Amino acid sequence: MSSSKKNLIIDHKGPFHGQKLDCLFSEQEIQARVKELADQISHDLENAKKPPILVGVLNGSLFFMADLMRAMSIETEMDFIKISSYHHTSSTGTVRLVKDISAQITDRDVLIVEDIVDTGLSINFLRNRMLSNAPHSLRVVTFLYKKEVSQLKKEPEYIGFVIPNRFVVGYGLDLDQKYRTLRDIYAFAPDNKQE
Ligand code: IMP
Repeated sequence: MSSSKKNLIIDHKGPFHGQKLDCLFSEQEIQARVKELADQISHDLENAKKPPILVGVLNGSLFFMADLMRAMSIETEMDFIKISSYHHTSSTGTVRLVKDISAQITDRDVLIVEDIVDTGLSINFLRNRMLSNAPHSLRVVTFLYKKEVSQLKKEPEYIGFVIPNRFVVGYGLDLDQKYRTLRDIYAFAPDNKQE
C-alpha cells in the first residue's frame, strides 16, 4: 500500500464505530482514471451533432459528474435523475423514479453517469427509461462496477474500476448519508458489506 493510501476508522456512533476501512483508490488514482475516461468519451462523442447530454444519477454521482464534465474536451450539457431502489434479492427489486430529467433527449446523444453499479437494477431501469425517449445514442459510464454481482442486461460502455463485492464509501458514495465528501474511496471488510 502506497503512503498516499491511508485507512479510515469509522468515527460516528453506531454499529460501525471503530471499524477500519481499506483505502481502495486514492484521490490521485481517481483523478487519473477520470481523465482517461473523459478523454475516451470526448473522443467517441466528438462528432455529435449537438452537445451530448450527461445525465447524472443523484446523489452519488455528483462529484464524478462534475470532475468528468470538466475533464472532457468537448462541449456537453447536464441533467440529473434521481431514483430509489429496493432490492428483494440481488437480481430482483423495484426502482422508483424520484426526480426525472427535464431535458428533451430525443435524437440527442446521452451519457448516463453513475457512481457505482451493484446489482445493475438501477442501470437496467435507467437504460429502458432513456431509450423510451428515442435518443440518438445512449451510453453508460460508471465509475465503479461490482462485476461479479451485477446482473446487467448490457455492460456499461465505460467503466472506471471493477471492484470486488464490498461496500464502499467516499467520492460521492455514502453510508447513511455520511462519508460522501471523502476524496478517496474506502471499502468495508469483505464480510461486512452493509447491504
Ligand atoms: P444497483 O441498482 O444495485 O446497481 O445499485 C446502484 C446504487 O446502489 C448506486 O447508485 C448506489 O447509490 C448504491 N450502492 C450500491 N453499492 C454501493 C456501495 O458499495 N456503496 C454505496 N452505495 C452503493
